[in-house]
Amino acid sequence: MEPSVLLLLAFLMGFLLLLVRGHPKAHGHLPPGPRPLPLLGNLLQMDRRGLLNSFMRLRDKYGDVFTVHLGPRPVVMLYGTEAIREALVDQAEAFSGRGTIAVVKSVFKDYGMIFANGERWKALRRFSLATMRDFGMGKRSVEERIQEEARCLVEELRKYQGAPLDPTFLLQCITANIICAIVFGERFDYKDRQFLRLLDLFYQSFSLFSSFSSQVFELFSGFLKYFPGPHKQMSKILQEILDYIGHSVEKHKATLDPSNPRDFIDTYLLRMEKEKSNPHTEFHHQNLMISVLSLFLAGTETSSTTLRYGFLLMLKYPHVAEKVQKEIDQVVGSHRLPALNNRTNMPYTEAVIHEIQRFSDLIPIGVPHKVTKDTLFRGYLLPKDTEVYPILSSALHDPQYFAQPDTFNPDHFLDANGALKKNEALMPFSIGKRICLGEGIARNELFLFFTTILQNFSVSSSVDPKDIDLSPKESGFGRVPPTYQICFLAR
Ligand code: HEM
Ligand SMILES: *[C@@H]1O[C@H](CO)[C@@H](O)[C@H](O)[C@H]1NC(C)=O
Ligand SMILES: *[C@@H]1O[C@H](CO)[C@@H](O)[C@H](O)[C@H]1NC(C)=O
Repeated sequence: MEPSVLLLLAFLMGFLLLLVRGHPKAHGHLPPGPRPLPLLGNLLQMDRRGLLNSFMRLRDKYGDVFTVHLGPRPVVMLYGTEAIREALVDQAEAFSGRGTIAVVKSVFKDYGMIFANGERWKALRRFSLATMRDFGMGKRSVEERIQEEARCLVEELRKYQGAPLDPTFLLQCITANIICAIVFGERFDYKDRQFLRLLDLFYQSFSLFSSFSSQVFELFSGFLKYFPGPHKQMSKILQEILDYIGHSVEKHKATLDPSNPRDFIDTYLLRMEKEKSNPHTEFHHQNLMISVLSLFLAGTETSSTTLRYGFLLMLKYPHVAEKVQKEIDQVVGSHRLPALNNRTNMPYTEAVIHEIQRFSDLIPIGVPHKVTKDTLFRGYLLPKDTEVYPILSSALHDPQYFAQPDTFNPDHFLDANGALKKNEALMPFSIGKRICLGEGIARNELFLFFTTILQNFSVSSSVDPKDIDLSPKESGFGRVPPTYQICFLAR
């Protein structure tokens, strides 16, 4: 359905319900914000360019902490590095709850490590971190897996012999294969039909996630859920991914060797077996399915989209790409694969990757949190379960921490001697107890993929750098860069 039709429908339904039910009750002492209409909330303050733009304008009026009614429900917005830190780090436990994202709610419910809360979340998070660290990758380290994938990619790129291509697909392949290695214990060939289908589903789900219609749905899911819309499409996509995961789990069960767990699924199945007499165990089938789905959804489009923005930035700023290549040549040379321990000697490359993550601003309004108990914050009282959005974009563009917040400039992370400079406001993975569970893996991927590609290829485009438009194609819960063509020229 057209977004405008959705909006109109939302309006009509809202007014009808309004006539029947009257005003909702206020509770607690929430931060200030625009006066909500009953049920429609702050719809009138919403900007057609999406949630982030709507919030930006309100911040000018109400300051760093304010309340917006997304439809009928109040959500507390945190703007700027200070406010986000004060909440997510200084009151880490209180702000560690997970809110909902309406468009995926019917599939995830409260299973899996992204959307679970309380003891379930703690158990799954602990298990996942340990598994990815210790066993998940079989006999080989994460580093070796990524290096192998990088080698396959370079081989594939050579086949193009410098002809232009849209890099979306291949960048998806490599990041998806890392998650496949963790979860299924195997990587797929870039021509494998089932793999291609999965990639297409991941791409569709991230686009839908980032779309305008999903943001409208977020506001009025209470009644829009009864109509066709992005949530129905999303459920269909996710169900197909779940079917695939289900088949794989069955295959794992049939070939499970308790003394030799091959991957995440094996490790989980063994845990399930161990706890099968515990009626309260969190290690059951439903949590396995949704946890694996969570890893794919959180771990493939995120890294690949960041890389895709990164190479677009290299086309826009060729002198930056050249400086990175110079550093690669000096530290790694041309006959050895870049390795993680080379990072410490490559401050410029590190600064460029930080700046790519800052500029691409992948999850601009953060992933919704909620408070786990009644919480005092900056003189306000947020009742238990109040939703909180840490607006990561506002930290990544914080003028108190970055000299030119809206400009791509690796100097943001370099001191006068060219050494890497840490910056508290760089939080693309969020901060606090809910910080991205894949941060380490993602950072390793970004470094190894980025350097291995630039070690072997120069990048160019038929579009003049000054005509390259960096503005995103979609910006909602995620930000999607514009589609572009790039040539990889063997060095
Ligand atoms: C550049 C790549 C990535 C970015 C920018 C990113 C960003 C984020 C952000 C902002 C969150 C929300 C944190 C919060 O609730 O405050 C998150 C959560 C999460 N990410 Fe990532 N992520 C990336 C890659 C990955 C990868 C590769 C994996 C898996 C291996 C992954 C798995 C997860 C999971 C499971 C969560 C939920 C954690 C929880 O709720 O406890 N992410 N990520
Ligand atoms: C990159 O190029 C160098 C020099 O041509 C070569 O030795 C190296 O194996 C290449 N890397 C990959 C991953 O193919
Ligand atoms: C780069 O990493 C390789 C492989 O670990 C190592 O042999 C080499 O000494 C490193 N080079 C520098 C300058 O750190």
